[in-house]
Amino acid sequence: MEELLQQIKNIKQEVTAYIANHADDAEAFRIKYLGTKGLVKNIMGEMKNVPNEKKKEFGLLLNEVKQFVEDKYNSLKQSTQQTDTNTFNLIDWSLPGNPITVGTRHPLSIVRNQIVSIFKRLGFAVAEGPEIEDDWHNFGAMNLPEDHPARDMQDTFYINKNPDWLLRTHTSSVQARVMENQKPPIRVICPGRVYRNETISARAHCFFHQIEGLYIDENVSFADLKQTLYFFVQEMFGKETKVRFRPSYFPFTEPSAEMDISCLICGGDGCNVCKHTGWVEILGSGMVHPKVLENFNIDSNKYTGFAFGMGVERICQLKYRVNDLRLYSQNDIRFLKQFTGAI
Ligand code: PHE
Repeated sequence: MEELLQQIKNIKQEVTAYIANHADDAEAFRIKYLGTKGLVKNIMGEMKNVPNEKKKEFGLLLNEVKQFVEDKYNSLKQSTQQTDTNTFNLIDWSLPGNPITVGTRHPLSIVRNQIVSIFKRLGFAVAEGPEIEDDWHNFGAMNLPEDHPARDMQDTFYINKNPDWLLRTHTSSVQARVMENQKPPIRVICPGRVYRNETISARAHCFFHQIEGLYIDENVSFADLKQTLYFFVQEMFGKETKVRFRPSYFPFTEPSAEMDISCLICGGDGCNVCKHTGWVEILGSGMVHPKVLENFNIDSNKYTGFAFGMGVERICQLKYRVNDLRLYSQNDIRFLKQFTGAI
């Protein structure tokens, strides 16, 4: 009898300890203590062995313990149910998912791709070269020997480790690389990034992008150069765009010309972009200098060629009216996401 009494008294302690360790499983608790084979039922079953005069005392004690265990079970059930419904209800399962934002192509890439696809239709292949160049490919081969004053036209970033190395100042260096490796006929365009030591402002940057063109074959004339560039302008900017050539100077072309197009922003009336002239310069060009051809053992009596180099940022400015060069490299998503729908 004493043993049973002790068992009853122990239940309370045991239940409290059990809950502390298994606070998340109300059902396991119910089975262990209140189920048909549970501890409480077990002890109830012992009642028949209790002598009559003790039955009242035992009955009261047992009822109290049973009540205690049931209360514990109820509160355990409530608290576990609550946490279940809490997390469930916090989520509105009917809400649409978060939209996945897809990036957009950079405006300079869009414009570069457009330019490349126009020249591809004329049979130009794409060629690329390194951004870290040596003096020969960037300058020497392009007819700018050392001490040539025209080197001052482009503020060059030299590489400390090796003064013969530099960041290419123009994509004309790719002309050199192509002529080094291919025999005429040559018909390539070379898109790429170039570097110049300029103070960064809305109108100048220390790097920008160019697309070079080079065409070498027998009987290539200045008329071919003009016609190719006319075609390009009409495809790129529309049939109504006007074009003019101005005589110019580049060491690697002779004769040389810069090409302007009528300002797309003001239609030629005069605005900030065209500095109130109605014209915007978009490229340099000319007939490949015989010395450049000879540098690559191309017979300048047999072959002639034309070359041009245009700035991608400038064309992008005209197409999209971007008024600050710095925007292209600041990675401001508000700027970048405005250029959708183009390839
Ligand atoms: N390389 C020249 C520049 O960067 C552009 C150019 C290319 C001019 C080819 C003529 C021929 O200004």
